[in-house]
Amino acid sequence: MSTQSIRRIGSLKNAVQFQDHLRSLDITIPVDEELVCGDTSPLRLPINGRGFTIGNRIAVQPMEGWDGTADGNPTESTERRWRRFGSSGAKLIWGGEAVAVSQEGRANPRQLLMAPHTEKGLAKLRAALIEEHRRTTGSDKGLLIGLQLTHSGRYSRPNDHLRPEPRIAFHHPILDRRLALPNDFPLLSDEEVEKIIDQFRAAAVRAWELGFDFVDAKHCHGYLGHELLGGHTRAGRYGGSFEGRTRFLREIVAGIRSDAPTLRIGVRLSAFDTVPFRHDPAESSNGNLGKGIPEEYNNLLPYRYGFGVNPSDPVESDLSETVRLLSLLQELDICLVNLTAGSPYYNPHIQRPALYPPSDGYQPPEDPLVGVARQMEATRFLKDKFPKLIFVGSAYSYLQDFLPNVAQAAVRLGWVDLVGLGRMLLTYPEILWDATEGRALQRKRVCRTFSDCTTAPRKGWPSGCYPLDSYYKDSVFAEEMLSAKKR
Ligand SMILES: Cc1cc2nc3c(=O)[nH]c(=O)nc-3n(C[C@H](O)[C@H](O)[C@H](O)COP(=O)(O)O)c2cc1C
Ligand code: SF4
Repeated sequence: MSTQSIRRIGSLKNAVQFQDHLRSLDITIPVDEELVCGDTSPLRLPINGRGFTIGNRIAVQPMEGWDGTADGNPTESTERRWRRFGSSGAKLIWGGEAVAVSQEGRANPRQLLMAPHTEKGLAKLRAALIEEHRRTTGSDKGLLIGLQLTHSGRYSRPNDHLRPEPRIAFHHPILDRRLALPNDFPLLSDEEVEKIIDQFRAAAVRAWELGFDFVDAKHCHGYLGHELLGGHTRAGRYGGSFEGRTRFLREIVAGIRSDAPTLRIGVRLSAFDTVPFRHDPAESSNGNLGKGIPEEYNNLLPYRYGFGVNPSDPVESDLSETVRLLSLLQELDICLVNLTAGSPYYNPHIQRPALYPPSDGYQPPEDPLVGVARQMEATRFLKDKFPKLIFVGSAYSYLQDFLPNVAQAAVRLGWVDLVGLGRMLLTYPEILWDATEGRALQRKRVCRTFSDCTTAPRKGWPSGCYPLDSYYKDSVFAEEMLSAKKR
């Protein structure tokens, strides 16, 4: 499969053609042919948790912008993005973006940091978002704003975007090789993990004092929380058994509950994973990336290096531990769950299905709609098992022109509670709000998954939509992006 051989969504004229296309790919994605507008739209229905209400079914996914200051404060560009999050009309803001709990845990030197000197800046982001949200929807009733807290673990690059400073939970035979880590590269000790738990607690208290409604104890995308969930081979208190691998999460939750008793907690979770992929060198030519293929794993069976992965066939998912984890969340009285999958670093086609690969990616190994359907199906399965949890679903942006039709159907049928918007937010934040207002789709603003917003940070440039958003199109980095693509 290559980008050229994939049928463009933009070439499909209506929902009926889109459904035919889905059938031709033999995948199931629900599609409503007619969009309902006004308060009867499934996307406008409020949803209740214990002691709170979310005013509609639209959620903003966390989207980092690599545009903070060196000391972790937001800049004007960060504020602009948060204003756009507000203008989406979404009543659930899941994190805004990943905010590091410590300097050493930042994923890049421009990532936001939670610290005494950044409190004012973060409060300003929240206020700007609320102001814009009120302007769009008329009121901030039912608006729930969370902050995503993170430690980047293996993907920490706090000081220089070209210099990884990984903090790893266990030796991963494939991912260690990618970072050229020697066999004796030190693991985070249990004492260091405990210190990070304390940093999560302290960051949560600050978020609480700033008025955020909840924090996300991030467990996705290969960052520390997620890596620990897959730490089958890790010795000590934070690895090995399911109990050990979930201790980090449980201790963060207990700590927050004791220090910030009324703060709600959510978890963004990579529900399943697969082995790392790379581009097939046999297929690449003239600097073009080859198709994505899994790294060799036959010598690693049973595979013990991931979460939600079938150990005997690790390109397949296995949701049995995911189910266990969701039961645990329920026991911990956590009802806000945001499901995603895989990692943007080692299997981006799983995590954010796209037509065009980012600079460090590979040509799509499958039609990206298959990736969308995979995440939707896992979410449907888990929602069915845990009807009381409130689920946010991910990876809808590739649906493009048909995103509103699918979002409405998925909520109406109970496949998911809230539809989370990621990349589409960078180009067309109001897409679902517009649909529920009965406004026509603005096709020119639809994200076409060019992946510049992923390529940019890989090069150390601010992340944004270079092809479609004039703010970035006219920026000093736009030319560099163009020439990087030509190379
Ligand atoms: C530029 C960029 C930044 C992102 N930053 C974060 C982040 O800070 N935290 C997170 O959990 N996910 C992050 N994601 C993943 C998105 O939240 C989302 O899961 C993903 O893009 C798939 O959804 P979509 O198809 O709507 O884009 C990011 C994605 C992109 C493209
Ligand atoms: S750069 Fe723009 S069009 Fe491309 S994936 Fe990102 S948001 Fe979508």
